[in-house]
Amino acid sequence: MTSRNEESFATRAVHAGRHDFNELGVHAPPLDLSSTYPTPDLDLAARSFDRLASGDAPEGGSFVYQRLFNPTTDRFERALADLEGAEDAAAFASGMAALTAVLLAAKSRGTHVVAVRPLYGTSDHLLTSGLLGLSVTWTTQDEVAGAIRPDTALVVIETPGNPTLALVDIAHVVRQAGQVPVMVDATFATPVLQRPLEHGAALVMHSATKFLGGHGDLLAGVVAGPHAMIRDVKHVRAATGGLLHPLGSFLLHRGLPTLALRVERAQATAEILAQRLAEDPRIQSIRYPGLPGQDPRGLLGRQMTGPGSIMSFELASDDAHVMRAFIRDLKLITPAVSLGSTDTLIQPPAVLTHRVVDAGDREHAGISGGMLRLSVGLEDARDLWRDLDRALAVVPRAAALHTEEMTPAATR
Ligand SMILES: Cc1ncc(COP(=O)(O)O)c(C=O)c1O
Repeated sequence: MTSRNEESFATRAVHAGRHDFNELGVHAPPLDLSSTYPTPDLDLAARSFDRLASGDAPEGGSFVYQRLFNPTTDRFERALADLEGAEDAAAFASGMAALTAVLLAAKSRGTHVVAVRPLYGTSDHLLTSGLLGLSVTWTTQDEVAGAIRPDTALVVIETPGNPTLALVDIAHVVRQAGQVPVMVDATFATPVLQRPLEHGAALVMHSATKFLGGHGDLLAGVVAGPHAMIRDVKHVRAATGGLLHPLGSFLLHRGLPTLALRVERAQATAEILAQRLAEDPRIQSIRYPGLPGQDPRGLLGRQMTGPGSIMSFELASDDAHVMRAFIRDLKLITPAVSLGSTDTLIQPPAVLTHRVVDAGDREHAGISGGMLRLSVGLEDARDLWRDLDRALAVVPRAAALHTEEMTPAATR
């Protein structure tokens, strides 16, 4: 008999969270949509309620109420914890709901957070706005130690960072943080390419809306870590109600067996496109960890097994009309926020996902007004390149196009 730890990631991705299938006599994850559960044994239900409300497992199969426990969600959480090498995980209605619960749970340790930019725009906003009653010190990955205070409850980093693809050395940050837990938003990497707990992080979170869901049809978030910390996070979830609908948990669990295939295929295509864009004179600059010189800390191989499938680039024209025309001319690639879907998506972070970040902070984090973030999907690389190449034709025509757009159609 092999132990689960000896099995490879691909094998665990197929089998994780299926522990009770034989007992249930099922082959596919059952979808339990119950909002409430019968409580014929009131004493058992009361004991189970107490456990669930404080973030513990149910007692004697008494689930009481969906906000407290759902078996479909529980299976997905166990599977994700397995893939992250974590003791436990908690799933939420969105990535932001997961981050909110982590931050609220951290308040029992203090009300100060240390964070490294860039983070996803709304994560940045949640911390900066003080909405949750926390103060934040923004710093760099080399200056975390100096930012820690006695009331620091958490260090928050994101790697690769959205949208600059900057890589953060997790172990380096963990060493500086000392006793303060480090949470890594690893949405761009997925556990296929990076498992932050193996580098000393206490918690890993994902916007499961992205690669974990993988099909652009659900919103979800998940956080994994040690029992004690996830218990606190589940306590917050039971009290605040940002739980994931069981249909979302079902879809996420269903998608895990193909996660590695999807991530690796999209990455292979992204490597081809990044190389072409890097060589193209119509591109001013490109950020992709797989390109030469873009991993100065040598994290590929050591922390991440591959560069992933997201890149950011600037056109060789800083004319906003050109960027808009380029996006409009794309036929196959969808102009849309979000990422990690089956189809390729493009969006300008300064205009959309990161518009909630102060313009000065954005610039400081390397997010220029002309930056475009490309999330490569599962289409054929040749078709994607043809689409990009055709739309890039707008770039040399920059001046003419500007005049054209300025001239009313009737007088042309
Ligand atoms: C890196 C990262 N973290 C968190 C989030 C927030 O996740 P959600 O949109 O699922 O709330 C996003 C969303 O784009 C993201 O890209």
